[in-house]
Amino acid sequence: MSDSSGEQGSYSHGYGVTSDNLSRRTAQTSAGFFVPYLESGMSLLDCGCGPGSLTTSLAQLVAPGRVVGIDIGESQVERAREHAAEAGVSNVEFQVGGLYELPFDDSSFDSVFSNTVLQHVPDPVRALREWNRVLKPGGVLGIREEDWGSLFYWPETPLLREAYDLYFRYWQENGGNPYLPRQYRRILRESGFDVIEMAGEVNVSATSDRVAAVGNYGSTHWLEPVFAEAVVDRGWVTREHLEKLANSFEVWAADPDAFTGLTFVSAVARRPA
Ligand SMILES: C[S@@+](CC[C@H](N)C(=O)[O-])C[C@H]1O[C@@H](n2cnc3c(N)ncnc32)[C@H](O)[C@@H]1O
Repeated sequence: MSDSSGEQGSYSHGYGVTSDNLSRRTAQTSAGFFVPYLESGMSLLDCGCGPGSLTTSLAQLVAPGRVVGIDIGESQVERAREHAAEAGVSNVEFQVGGLYELPFDDSSFDSVFSNTVLQHVPDPVRALREWNRVLKPGGVLGIREEDWGSLFYWPETPLLREAYDLYFRYWQENGGNPYLPRQYRRILRESGFDVIEMAGEVNVSATSDRVAAVGNYGSTHWLEPVFAEAVVDRGWVTREHLEKLANSFEVWAADPDAFTGLTFVSAVARRPA
């Protein structure tokens, strides 16, 4: 299977600099909201596991429980396997697959986790119903992602605004929703979950190092072929103007007062017993 996903949507971020960033995360940095619900021996499914850094970290927490990471991206699954092997974690396995039809029996897992994935899935309720099916009655779900409508930054340059707007347009045309978390209560209710708790956390980049990292990420990511070719081919922007938009991240980051923030929303829910 390739790294594209058909009716399951087309993963907008691609597997370049975004995947590199994701590899540096751990359960403590990105899944802290779910950690109190996990204990040794529990089984866990990570839906859209990407490069597997969180899956492996979660596997250490629930060991010797069985952990499975599944992702549509073959390159990600390979990367995840390497990551787990390097970390010496043996209670985790990875599979290539989509999230609408999981290759698991009903009531297979004690817990299901998913970080920054549902925002890329055209029908999140369909995916959540499937995750509900593979959870044991009373099993626990943890989901988390950012709501891009909460993005703020200073200085507010018109080029940076245009760069983000272009990206969100592309993302939505691919079937995703950068503003999904505000609908968490609705999609969880419609897929048969009982919400236990929801929380929000604002991630700010306000130190020189973090501002420089955002500048570098934007100037690289906005020119990655998967996005650049799509928006230029569709006639939304010329290559020359896209380069200006990408460069606007570096211009922004060079401002001594540069500052940005974004809210991540998390939810913990249960499959009714
Ligand atoms: C932003 S990454 C998050 C990866 C991982 N959860 C993490 O936090 O490190 C989103 C992942 O979801 C996967 N994905 C998107 N749509 C999918 C689908 N329909 N089925 C399976 N995986 C999907 C992508 O391939 C990508 O690896």
